[in-house]
Amino acid sequence: MRIIIRDTAQEASRLAASQIITSLPTNGRLGVATGSTPLALYGFLREAHAAGEFTLEGCSAWALDEYVQIPEDHPERYRNVLLNELVENGGTGLAADDLHTPDGAAEDPEQAARDYESQIAPGVDVQILGLGSNGHIGFNEPAGSLSSRTHVGHLTPTTRSDNARFFGNDIDAVPSLCITQGLATIMSAREIVLLAFGEGKAEAIAQIVEGGVAQRWPGSILQHHENVTVYVDEAAASRLDLADYYKTLN
Ligand code: F6R
Repeated sequence: MRIIIRDTAQEASRLAASQIITSLPTNGRLGVATGSTPLALYGFLREAHAAGEFTLEGCSAWALDEYVQIPEDHPERYRNVLLNELVENGGTGLAADDLHTPDGAAEDPEQAARDYESQIAPGVDVQILGLGSNGHIGFNEPAGSLSSRTHVGHLTPTTRSDNARFFGNDIDAVPSLCITQGLATIMSAREIVLLAFGEGKAEAIAQIVEGGVAQRWPGSILQHHENVTVYVDEAAASRLDLADYYKTLN
């Protein structure tokens, strides 16, 4: 893993955006995360698009996950979040039809998960990831298989509590089921860019970067990927034993 530590989330997000702009091939496939962490990065991608330096025209974008049975017009439905970030508001050149999200409204979510898995194969070119405070990537919660493919998952109370801020601070309003890319699906990406900011992510970052590979900290599977860059601010890096060493490398 390459660990990039910057004073602020803004600086780290700007660098992550540059990496994506450089790495994504023409007509490439970009894996996209939701949540609050990548919002600044998406802002930089929109800015670069407005400046004529970058476009997702001809590319496709693939969401990590979607809530099951969330109303179609709900602002926190991940398809709506990503349309808002990547297609509307000046956009990034991405066409709405080229944004792929698991079908959380499907009558048979298990089948929808299998369908999504076959559509995303053989994996994206560049995958953007956030990190849960409990170490999840996508919605792969602790104790799930390290070899999982896209599946229906149950959110932990920790994740529902973390995400309650998007649902009027009402944990009961946070859906408990999701369709998520599995860990093996995420690992099939050619290149991975993970971002984590704030003290609330410090333990998870220390565990996935410097701990052992274990189901308890699902993001630790990334230690087996050959092309992962982790962008953190000082707060998220605060529990890394080797932070000073990583800083000498970049
Ligand atoms: C979102 C996702 C999650 C989030 C994680 C962090 O598509 O898959 O893994 O990246 O829960 O969320 P934030 O960024 O809101 O702290």
